[in-house]
Amino acid sequence: MELTYRPRRLRRTPALRAMVREHQLAPTDFIYPLFVHEGASNEPIGAMPGAKRWSLEGLVEEVGRAWDLGIRCVVLFPKVADGLKTEDGAECFNEHGLIPRAIRRLKQVHPAMAIMTDVALDPYSCDGHDGLVSAAGVVLNDETVAILCRQAVAQARAGADLIGPSDMMDGRVGAIREALDEQGFEHVGIISYTAKYASAYYGPFREALDSAPRANADKPIPSDKSTYQMDPANGREAILETQLDESEGADILMVKPGLAYLDIIYRLRQESEQPIAAYNVSGEYAMVKAAAERGWIDERAVTLETLLCFKRAGADLILTYHACDAAAWLRQG
Ligand code: PBG
Repeated sequence: MELTYRPRRLRRTPALRAMVREHQLAPTDFIYPLFVHEGASNEPIGAMPGAKRWSLEGLVEEVGRAWDLGIRCVVLFPKVADGLKTEDGAECFNEHGLIPRAIRRLKQVHPAMAIMTDVALDPYSCDGHDGLVSAAGVVLNDETVAILCRQAVAQARAGADLIGPSDMMDGRVGAIREALDEQGFEHVGIISYTAKYASAYYGPFREALDSAPRANADKPIPSDKSTYQMDPANGREAILETQLDESEGADILMVKPGLAYLDIIYRLRQESEQPIAAYNVSGEYAMVKAAAERGWIDERAVTLETLLCFKRAGADLILTYHACDAAAWLRQG
């Protein structure tokens, strides 16, 4: 054949392929999500092999391991004891609560590691929703935002670098920005869950924290989060959320879940000049682990391919439970 263009010329050797490779993965792309509880030992999580509910000291050790692998940011999620859960989730702004204590301890031992937090009521609410549930079973917006502001300030006071509102209440980014600034935390950033979908992929996470919506005899509790998280059918609406979060002062924009939403990552990348993060969520992690355990897929290859594809889609940062494994594999080359 007389072909002018033969794309295979640039695929012929490893050196040529490396020269024209458009995207690379690095450990600094990863944000490592970690669960922490009050217990003295580290507990495995059934649907998330390799992830654990860490004790405070276990957490300190795991963060040290992540640092040594080149990871520079972790995000913390609390497993709150049932006895501390209330309708208003007030434990979320307790300055001596689990998360503020974990942040302070980590900052003592690993001061250079960036710490991101999650802002939402679900781990602290006996109803298992990200916001306050009214007697009529409505998740209240503005009343919730007032509590989230107190939660964000408590986290900033403990030393958080990035506040991550995952609640999807309207106007929360602007309100949190104002509350942080008022308290002298203008240097603390906001990584907003900008396009967070009402997804079934969060199942293992809710198991890890025992934070799923809970039925209750006193009031009707919505069984899902679809009155505040986005409809998986909607793409344009993610652009609206992007415009709102930018105008309210978000520093980093996040899409969640990640894998089934690569088109949303791509659209945000076109829309915004700000850094974009993708959340490779618990259900995505569980699927890879389950198939790998059965020997049906090559865990290392599938994981590194998946993470790389987030970058190709336009993400600068990836929240992933695979962070330490992936960083170790990248180091091996
Ligand atoms: C809490 C929150 C959730 C996740 C992160 N923050 C669960 C939810 O919204 O129900 C999910 C993360 C994951 O599945 O890995 N608002």
